[in-house]
Amino acid sequence: MSTEALVYRELNLEPYWMPFTANRAFKKDPRLFVSARGMYYQTADGRQVMDGMSGMWCCNAGHCHPKLVQAVQAQVMELDYAPAFQMGHPRIFELAERLANLAPEGLGRVFFTNSGSESVDTALKIALGYHSARGEAGRTRLVGRARGYHGVGFGGITVGGIGNNRKSFGPLLPGALHLPHTHDLEHNAFSRGQPAWGAHLADELENLIAVNDASTIAAVIVEPFAGSGGVLIPPRGYLERLREITSRHGILLIFDEVITGFGRFGASFAAERFQVTPDLITTAKGLTSGMVPMGAVLLRDEIYDAFMHGPQPAIELFHGYTYSGHPLATAAAHAALDVYAEEDLFARAKSLEVVWEEALHSLAGKPHVIDIRNFGLVGAIELEPRPDAPTARAIDAFEKAYLAGVLVRTTGDTIALAPPLIIEEKEIERIVATLADVLSHLD
Ligand SMILES: Cc1ncc(COP(=O)(O)O)c(C=O)c1O
Repeated sequence: MSTEALVYRELNLEPYWMPFTANRAFKKDPRLFVSARGMYYQTADGRQVMDGMSGMWCCNAGHCHPKLVQAVQAQVMELDYAPAFQMGHPRIFELAERLANLAPEGLGRVFFTNSGSESVDTALKIALGYHSARGEAGRTRLVGRARGYHGVGFGGITVGGIGNNRKSFGPLLPGALHLPHTHDLEHNAFSRGQPAWGAHLADELENLIAVNDASTIAAVIVEPFAGSGGVLIPPRGYLERLREITSRHGILLIFDEVITGFGRFGASFAAERFQVTPDLITTAKGLTSGMVPMGAVLLRDEIYDAFMHGPQPAIELFHGYTYSGHPLATAAAHAALDVYAEEDLFARAKSLEVVWEEALHSLAGKPHVIDIRNFGLVGAIELEPRPDAPTARAIDAFEKAYLAGVLVRTTGDTIALAPPLIIEEKEIERIVATLADVLSHLD
């Protein structure tokens, strides 16, 4: 039993059904964080663990940033909740305006949600409603991508491309199609930044259109890089080609920027970094630096305008959440955007990219490493799976790194990294030194 398990042996771990967790294994040997500051978590048994994952891709400004803490504290004493339907509060309108100003040109409207999953389902519904409002109700097919992760709502798992997330939940939404993923070790292993090979994989969309006809397709949704599906960086020219094909066929392009929004790629959005403008962007996570749940969908003005018909007292979109634009989340988001600007964190991520890349690629040649990938402040180390137990080697690495004081994540046999944008060079060195040691001691 770990010291953490001993410290918390009085705690009843049973009633809580933990999400995306091996519950039985965890409850035998729990890992518990009790506080956090900046780059570091404190564990229940008093150890410091450096956050190599921004929590779960979300705490871009680091933990418990005083400005965010103060903003949320002040808000909770002022206005705890305002109804989201047929009512509002001033700061959510200000936040929408700020987001529209950060977004690529033309995406001037914002719909608020509470999570990435809700943002995705909202974006998909808006896409369907948009075509319907314009008299193209036959456009009902949604196109996702193999290895895509778009949260856990029924819309999100329909367009998602991870078998385990879909297989137990019935037929899902009808008519969905999937593009191939872009992962290819033969051509792209150990690429630095965007791989050179693979733009042509976007052409599969032409095949899907040829078979199904564009008039049946509402939208294509992709993550600019596939995060939870393995940290797959888009090949050079791939997103550009998707944009070109979707525009030519009147299909909406949705970028799921739940991870890439708010600085992860050294810009407000991956759309800005790659200079490819989609029709809708889904966000969450870094929007509040993970402090209070909030998501948002940013969309083109024309999409909003298409709904603004009929009698004025009529509701235009039958969709929304009790907590859309919650005052506490709104305060956290304003403070996060302030901190990102004041500390110039997006530019900081961009300037650290080369250091990050060099550091990560120094792990090439370590035992079991079959690929290293990086872009912005995202990294991945893919391990050769154990023949009899896929994913086990990476989970072993995750546990060893945690005990050695660094939090990483795993997806399949890939170790994923996405540190807060406040990370210092010496902390990058420490992450890599820890992983070098962990990799050297893996079976
Ligand atoms: C690209 C992407 N979309 C959607 C989601 C779902 O977000 P949430 O867990 O907030 O529902 C995630 C979560 O990791 C994500 O990475």
